[in-house]
Amino acid sequence: MCATPAKKLGLALKPVEFLTEADAKTELKRLAAEIAHNDELYHAKDAPAISDADYDALRLRNKAIEARFPNLTRTDSPSKRVGAAPATGFAKVAHRHPMLSLENAFSDEDVRDFFKGVRNFFRAPADVARVEEDTIAVMAEPKIDGLSCSIHYEKGVLTLAATRGDGVTGEDITANVKTLKNVPKELKGKGWPDRIEIRGEVYMDRDGFFALNAEREKEGEPVFANPRNAAAGSLRQLDSSITATRPLAFFAYAWGEQSAPFAKSHHEALKHFREWGFTVNPLSRLCHGVDELVAFHQHVGEERAGLPYDIDGVVYKVDDLDLEERLGFVSRAPRWAIAHKFPAQQTQTLLKNIFIQVGRRGTLTPVADLEPVTVGGVVVSRATLHNEDEIKRKDIREGDTVIIQRAGDVIPQVVSVVEARRPKDSHPYKFPHKCPECGSLAVREEGAVAWRCTGGLICPAQGVERLKHFVSRNAFDIEGLGEKHIIDFWHDGLLKGPADIFRLKSETLEAREGWGKVSAQKLIAAIDARRTIGLDRFINALGLPQVGEATAKLLAKHYRSLSRWRQAMTDAADETSDAWKELNDIHGIGEDMATDIVGFFAEDHNKTVLNELGEELTVEEYAIAAPVGDSPFTGKTIVFTGTLVEMSRSEAKARAEALGAHVSGSISAKTNFLVVGADAGSKAKKAAELGVTTLTEEEFLKMAKG
Ligand code: IVH
Repeated sequence: MCATPAKKLGLALKPVEFLTEADAKTELKRLAAEIAHNDELYHAKDAPAISDADYDALRLRNKAIEARFPNLTRTDSPSKRVGAAPATGFAKVAHRHPMLSLENAFSDEDVRDFFKGVRNFFRAPADVARVEEDTIAVMAEPKIDGLSCSIHYEKGVLTLAATRGDGVTGEDITANVKTLKNVPKELKGKGWPDRIEIRGEVYMDRDGFFALNAEREKEGEPVFANPRNAAAGSLRQLDSSITATRPLAFFAYAWGEQSAPFAKSHHEALKHFREWGFTVNPLSRLCHGVDELVAFHQHVGEERAGLPYDIDGVVYKVDDLDLEERLGFVSRAPRWAIAHKFPAQQTQTLLKNIFIQVGRRGTLTPVADLEPVTVGGVVVSRATLHNEDEIKRKDIREGDTVIIQRAGDVIPQVVSVVEARRPKDSHPYKFPHKCPECGSLAVREEGAVAWRCTGGLICPAQGVERLKHFVSRNAFDIEGLGEKHIIDFWHDGLLKGPADIFRLKSETLEAREGWGKVSAQKLIAAIDARRTIGLDRFINALGLPQVGEATAKLLAKHYRSLSRWRQAMTDAADETSDAWKELNDIHGIGEDMATDIVGFFAEDHNKTVLNELGEELTVEEYAIAAPVGDSPFTGKTIVFTGTLVEMSRSEAKARAEALGAHVSGSISAKTNFLVVGADAGSKAKKAAELGVTTLTEEEFLKMAKG
């Protein structure tokens, strides 16, 4: 059905007082259908087809007709619904065990290095024997290009299904997952634990994807760029009857929560999954030694084009679950698994012109505007050219035919120029020395690769980019505050800094063209929903130089609260202070990064932003997953020194952290335990001076076992 805005029909509509009863009846029927249709577009699809003003006019007219002919009020009248259905979206689901991502290997060499790392993690000869590079048992599975999903079963019955979300919190998509034919609603066979959370990938096969797009094209609806997007769009439908019509399927490959252990190895777990009614990818294979893995990768790579669904690599998982548990996790990825990606897919296209994008810190990045082309299943129309030197090195010119590639999720790149197809009148690209956004001088500092706009706060691009980052998915994640709104609000002076977002008023928005009560209130509600935020997201949103999502997490995990972090960063300005040392001791933070972080706190305008945000927000303390049970090390600071016999230093650190300890590299009065291995040096002496409890490796292990 086609939505017809009342405004556009204005002249054609009879004034309400002139309507006959028959007219009124026909029109109320039309209005009921039209308003319901627009509600659906707005709330379920996030794709309104008419402006809020037009929508309000439809409702007003419906109300006016009903006021004149109350006996004609329909049972499905829009006036019986209080406003429109609230855009509740999906309920949030906290993952008890975080849903992690995988490190990537791009070459056989990377894979060998990964397994060398696994081998070096262990120390005791019996453990090492199980992980030798030429014999280690590893489960190898195709890496399905879909979206991961967690499905909970209680006493064998499907009770909850969730998306991965940010890995810690996902969305409740139970009703939708229940529509997938190859997901058992009740587990078959026996031997399943009372509570078990199965994880795997929801995907759409290629034939289903093409058929769906053909249908959408016929209906005039936008098509999906690739099967993964189609699967995501289909799974995140508020109306599960829409999901039910989409050709989705599920491969089970992992698990999260379990009330009791059910397998000793990955291959045994997958065998059980099959018995319980899941589909496990038929190409999955147990391999022994890295050579077999590399051969498997080659084999699957050859099969890839003939498979009915998209895969983008092979995942290797240490098969023995005891070893897996000991290997644990680092940052957001397990130490026991890695994804071996397939090489990037390449194609040729025309580079129409080069334009300059200005980043949130003023970096000018050249971008290629390409003739759209499909590569690796995705339509590509832009590619980054990185910087001036890169353009010079490859001699990339406007009008060139270029080879581009996509490597996994990485932004497409221009690999090289097809010189034979270069137009005769082409000339080398001249990098601009002025900011294209604000006209300020651009500078390239000595030793730097990038040109930078000197416009600072007056440059709209920098302001807008900073705000875009602030509201982005892994930062404040404010739904409905997109790029277009930020640009408009910036230009009209409504937003000058991040705190202004929280000072926006519904009435101000309502008064703007194209806005109505519903959309203004919806945005304000989305903003209000983020007035309480986790410390890690908050740090990420600030956009400190070199601090991305992972570093923000490290900082949040270490300092726990905003006030402690602020204080420590201010104290760390003195490079002889303990605070400076502590920051540099955080695994994953180098000196260069520490300098940038501390530098941020030295700037007055950054302090002002923090103070202003402090008035608008509650920043929650970082919650660390409670360690299983209590241990003598919970909440304590441990330092390891000397050579350990049973464990490598990495394993010792991982063990201690799993027990709730904080592991530090240097001894101070705050240290609770020093674990001393063979040939310990000055640390043991210092510990004795400070009165820190020292433990032998054996004592540590005994206490760790409890
Ligand atoms: S195992 C701890 N196995 O790849 C990690 N992941 O890049 C558990 N994926 O988020 C994941 N096929 O969505 C695993 N056979 C497979 C996979 C697979 C696809 C996805 C998954 C994950 C992403 C990581």
